[in-house]
Amino acid sequence: MVFDILTLFPGMFSGPFGESILGRAQREGLLTIRVWDIRDHTDDKHRTVDDAPYGGGAGMVMKPEPIVRAVEHVIQTGGPAERPRVILFAPQGARFNQHIARELAKESWLVLICGHYEGIDDRVRQLVADDVLSIGDFVLTGGEPAAIVLVDAVARLLPGVLGAPESAEEESFGPDGLLEYPQYTRPAEYRGLAVPEVLLSGNHGAIRRWRRKESLKLTLLYRPDLLREDSLTEEDRALLQEVRAELAGECEERPGDCGD
Ligand SMILES: C[S@@+](CC[C@H](N)C(=O)[O-])C[C@H]1O[C@@H](n2cnc3c(N)ncnc32)[C@H](O)[C@@H]1O
Repeated sequence: MVFDILTLFPGMFSGPFGESILGRAQREGLLTIRVWDIRDHTDDKHRTVDDAPYGGGAGMVMKPEPIVRAVEHVIQTGGPAERPRVILFAPQGARFNQHIARELAKESWLVLICGHYEGIDDRVRQLVADDVLSIGDFVLTGGEPAAIVLVDAVARLLPGVLGAPESAEEESFGPDGLLEYPQYTRPAEYRGLAVPEVLLSGNHGAIRRWRRKESLKLTLLYRPDLLREDSLTEEDRALLQEVRAELAGECEERPGDCGD
């Protein structure tokens, strides 16, 4: 898979993409990340990329010509498909999530456009963007952290990138939408806290059931919006009932922990 990133600050990517899993994946040829400087596609001696907003207001807006030219240049350079899927980052975009990451991992070529200042002239979206994505309901100074997040989330889903492919199969935001259960490793006891007994039991059925129940519990506690009760199995519903009863018991014992 090829990721082409268009940015005003190419230096922001060398650390995140040079290390760890993404660094190794590139060295092994499993993915290619190319970073392009939008300023190389300006046509004045000051390499101007921004201008004041029409209609007035604070800040500067990124001009359309250098970005559209940069996208055209990348397409002319070529990639693994006839055309790439072009993604523009903006807080107004659809919220990026694991489902979108899985969809994007099926593509062979992505172009990512990072904005700065007050944002990008909207004609860039109209002319070249296939998708507009946000990485969350907050405002960043630029699209570079968003590009790093997207590349990381998509790349780890590509065949061969993770050492153990099953790592990406059984984890948070999978097909059932639940959060992953808590994980433990050695030592079995640390500062008075013991690893749950069941995990040391070697009883695979009991471990699977414990993990499922903990997944349901964490999802209920931290992300109830992800719980789709109609898609839960009979066993899940029974486990969820147990979780609710336990939490209600804990609330009765320690009302201070449960809000009002
Ligand atoms: C300071 S922001 C522009 C914010 C814009 N004026 C607004 O209020 O919606 C500059 C650039 O950062 C990037 N950016 C900011 N927040 C983002 C987010 N939540 N997700 C993705 N990109 C973001 C976009 O590329 C945007 O063009």
